[in-house]
Amino acid sequence: MTPSDVKATLSFSDGSPSMDLPIYKGTIGPDVIDIRKLYAQTGKFTYDPGFLSTASCNSTITYIDGDKGELLYRGYPIEQLAVNCDFLETCYLLLYGELPNAAQKDAFVGRVTQHTMVNEQMQFFLRGFRRDAHPMAVMTGLVGALSAFYHDSTDINNPEHREIAAIRLIAKMPTLVAMAYKYSVGQPYVYPRNDMSYGANFMRMMFATPCEEYKSNDVLVRAMDRIFILHADHEQNASTSTVRLCGSSGTNPFAAIAAGVACLWGPAHGGANEACLNMLEDIQAMGGVAKIGEFISKVKDKNSGVRLMGFGHRVYKNYDPRAKLMRETCHEVLSELGLENDPLFKLAMELEKIALEDEYFVARKLYPNVDFYSGIVQRAIGIPVSLFTAIFALARTVGWIAQLNEMIADPEYKIGRPRQLFVGSPKRDVKPLAQR
Ligand code: CMC
Repeated sequence: MTPSDVKATLSFSDGSPSMDLPIYKGTIGPDVIDIRKLYAQTGKFTYDPGFLSTASCNSTITYIDGDKGELLYRGYPIEQLAVNCDFLETCYLLLYGELPNAAQKDAFVGRVTQHTMVNEQMQFFLRGFRRDAHPMAVMTGLVGALSAFYHDSTDINNPEHREIAAIRLIAKMPTLVAMAYKYSVGQPYVYPRNDMSYGANFMRMMFATPCEEYKSNDVLVRAMDRIFILHADHEQNASTSTVRLCGSSGTNPFAAIAAGVACLWGPAHGGANEACLNMLEDIQAMGGVAKIGEFISKVKDKNSGVRLMGFGHRVYKNYDPRAKLMRETCHEVLSELGLENDPLFKLAMELEKIALEDEYFVARKLYPNVDFYSGIVQRAIGIPVSLFTAIFALARTVGWIAQLNEMIADPEYKIGRPRQLFVGSPKRDVKPLAQR
């Protein structure tokens, strides 16, 4: 962190002494005011629920400029990565800070593919779940269960352990997601094939059956790979912050990632793609395009509790750059599958057009986010709606582990321990039961 020449001065209207606070500059983005000594010097905390103005860490991994609609992984624009690199190159970049050369890429792909199988016992673990359980409930359990298997990669203070846990997680997530899916539909699990690409192998594990030869489709594999790249990291969002906070206690890395999976499940975060597709299906059932006006009126009515899912973002106050790329992929996939006239896609396009022109959305800078399109793409590929968030978790795993490892490797890292403003009852005495 580079100290700035400028200092912030905090003064109080009651005459208490003022305090100078150091300011640090990042390479890009807003400066931060260092308040670490605030409590020791003033006896006061800061108050920022929802972290609207609080940087919880410093990081070198991902940068978002929400006003410009810019997303950089290790400095590289997402638009360039999505076109020039595949997902495993992106994983290498996020984990190690640089894009791999050809030899480094081969070695990395080789390492990941050697770890794609999961312990056979995982099948018995899966059997404990109801077949109609939500895939994110299953994934939270399965990823947590990994912590019971790999005792040679659980010491997070050991860089080699961190490295092997990272490779295992990236390698095994597709296998686990596909197993969760196969279990839900009562089909036999399909073992990974290490002569296929990461995306092609995942799609084979999802859709192959023992009855016929599985043929992989390059356009769909590329779309899947792009979904993975676009979701790989997104700086200090709710699930990543959860992983950092959970991991800050020194817990098992697989357990910390399971906490991230649990957080991602929520509809305001990773569950938005599922919620978005359910919303489109609801509007379709109501009467489709003709009912958009009525639906938009509900969204604008604060008492209805209805939100336009797939729109708005805490950080992007401009078009989500991932949404632009996903929109492109959406057209490619629908054309490959001959689904250009898919009524849900047409409905989504119409909804997007209307919302982008509507004063309510324009004034609040609410633009489509990546989930608005990723659901349509996944549905076209044949992925069930309830599995969308599990695929997001698969892709985000590399981001979580890169962020966790960055935190642990930082010599200044401390257990995360937020403070609070207590507004409950002051100290009081317990009365005997008869007097309450
Ligand atoms: N539909 C209707 N109104 C909205 C929406 C929406 N999707 N999003 C925000 N608003 C309104 C909100 O009511 C508020 O209006 P007002 O100022 O009149 O009270 C204003 O816009 C600001 O909203 P906010 O809730 O303060 O914004 P936030 O930054 O806390 O929320 C969000 C961000 C993503 C939770 C929210 O936009 C949302 O619920 N969107 C729908 C869910 C969604 O698509 N989430 C996926 C995010 S992208 C995937 C990821 O990165 O995880």
